[in-house]
Amino acid sequence: MRIPTFSVLKKCKIKTALYQLTRTITISSDEVKSKFDFNKLTGDPDYVDIHPSWKVYEEPELRAEVLRNMRILPDFVSEAEEASLLAEVEPQLKRMRYEFDHWDNAIEGYRETERSTWRADNEAVLTRIRAVFPQGATLLPHAHVLDLAAAGHIKPHVDAVRFCGDVIAGLCLLSSAVMRLTHEKHPNLVLDALLERRCLYIMSGVARYEFTHEVLGGEDSVWRGEKQPRRRRIAIICREQPKKIEDNEM
Ligand code: OGA
Ligand code: MN
Repeated sequence: MRIPTFSVLKKCKIKTALYQLTRTITISSDEVKSKFDFNKLTGDPDYVDIHPSWKVYEEPELRAEVLRNMRILPDFVSEAEEASLLAEVEPQLKRMRYEFDHWDNAIEGYRETERSTWRADNEAVLTRIRAVFPQGATLLPHAHVLDLAAAGHIKPHVDAVRFCGDVIAGLCLLSSAVMRLTHEKHPNLVLDALLERRCLYIMSGVARYEFTHEVLGGEDSVWRGEKQPRRRRIAIICREQPKKIEDNEM
């Protein structure tokens, strides 16, 4: 009996902390920015699992660091907010065809668009997403709206430093999915994140630069031994602006 009680309490504490964070963020982004410390923002650790191939004695500091830098905030938006965001992006997406079978694509079965202006209710959600970025971060002016077909998947890649800075935050709509991170130099260092419908993930630091990320296709979409149905999924992704080219080339 003690273990379940403990884990419930632990979850409650995390949920409360997240709830408070989300509440603060809705007050005013200026006010939040003055109090907000990106390094202290914690995700829910229950949504990230290290693979058994990453032995406990292996790279313990990297393990702790990647876990700090791959944060999942479950239930970041309500069902009503999800429906409202979808209503705004759907007419535009529906006019496009899903792209399959392009040999050079990192993504199979997708259509995408960018959006920099939103209806007022949706803009409020976008403001909440932008508020999780570190103080002083400059974001790309548009959000990337990525519609992944049920039969689609995203292959392992690292977002190009030319187009994207240190922090990436993705709001996950319509379907849950499993995101896998694999160390670029040590392929046994792997972790999976369960991206539930309506969660926000925040990928930064080593998670963003030293690990590839991928979104598993339906066949491989398994979390803790259970298949995760992969339906059509839409992600609204905000990214920090890339560093200046001069910095990148150093
Ligand atoms: C990308 C990407 C992840 C997602 O577009 O680069 O990795 O959540 N997307 O859809
Ligand atoms: Mn990516």
